[in-house]
Amino acid sequence: MAGRRAVVTGGTRGIGAAIVARLVAEGASVLTTARAPGGRLPEGVRFVTADAAVADDAARVARAAETELGGVDILINNAGGTVTRPDSVLDTDDEEWRHNLETNLMGAVRLDRAVLPGMIARGAGVIVHVSSTAAHEPMEEAAAYSAAKAALSAYSKNLADRLGPRGVRVNRISPGLTITSAAEELLERTAARDGSDRETALETWVAGLGGIPLQRPGTPEDIAALVAFLVSDEAAWITGADHVIDGGMLRAP
Ligand SMILES: NC(=O)c1ccc[n+]([C@@H]2O[C@H](COP(=O)([O-])OP(=O)(O)OC[C@H]3O[C@@H](n4cnc5c(N)ncnc54)[C@H](OP(=O)(O)O)[C@@H]3O)[C@@H](O)[C@H]2O)c1
Repeated sequence: MAGRRAVVTGGTRGIGAAIVARLVAEGASVLTTARAPGGRLPEGVRFVTADAAVADDAARVARAAETELGGVDILINNAGGTVTRPDSVLDTDDEEWRHNLETNLMGAVRLDRAVLPGMIARGAGVIVHVSSTAAHEPMEEAAAYSAAKAALSAYSKNLADRLGPRGVRVNRISPGLTITSAAEELLERTAARDGSDRETALETWVAGLGGIPLQRPGTPEDIAALVAFLVSDEAAWITGADHVIDGGMLRAP
């Protein structure tokens, strides 16, 4: 991956931070984003403050990548997330629906649009969309998030079909429960709601998911390893695919 130029959104924590670390370790030049600076980025990683939910920020990130890296060969649309609530199908108002769609779908759509002309001109590029198993099996506590991730997956497939002939590969990944700060917050809220503790909340979540055959939640590094493979030349004949990475949780992905 030496000499490749990569943009990873949401790279200060969790899955994004692990992807940044992995791409740097493999020799890529990396620019990452988040709504605020945070964490300790690996040496040499550029940072731009940007919110996936803010329309103008995508063009700003693409311009920064052009200036700082000289272009983009690899784009990982990882920024995303949600708040959960017990009866989300009934209790999510319009504003929260819009925010989920902006954060989990439109942020990626806009950044792809800003970066793609360069990839198409070079006849090469790789994009990964970080979706979720929630796109396959909606989370009761996150209706808008699940729908936004399903939309992201459908859009990702469409993009792959259109861009394959122009030399750009597009894949999506669907992680299951992965232990990051977002997952820890979810466990804390569940524990507080049930008057239990983190471990019991984790057991409740895993049981609610129908169990994880590999007997553990994922780590950010598990996810980063898949992303590193998908953006490498080893995956040269893989595009338009959904890569579920969930310890075997989904029964019918
Ligand atoms: N953890 C899981 O179990 C799991 C499972 C399936 C899918 N995913 C997906 O994986 C991705 C990463 O999740 P994670 O668990 O690693 O989350 P995380 O630990 O909360 O980290 C999220 C990262 O993205 C940034 N971010 C959040 N919202 C953003 C926004 N609107 N614009 C720009 N940056 C933003 C955060 O920094 P700031 O807060 O400073 O912006 C942080 O760097 C998300 O798309 C999530 O939906 C996670």
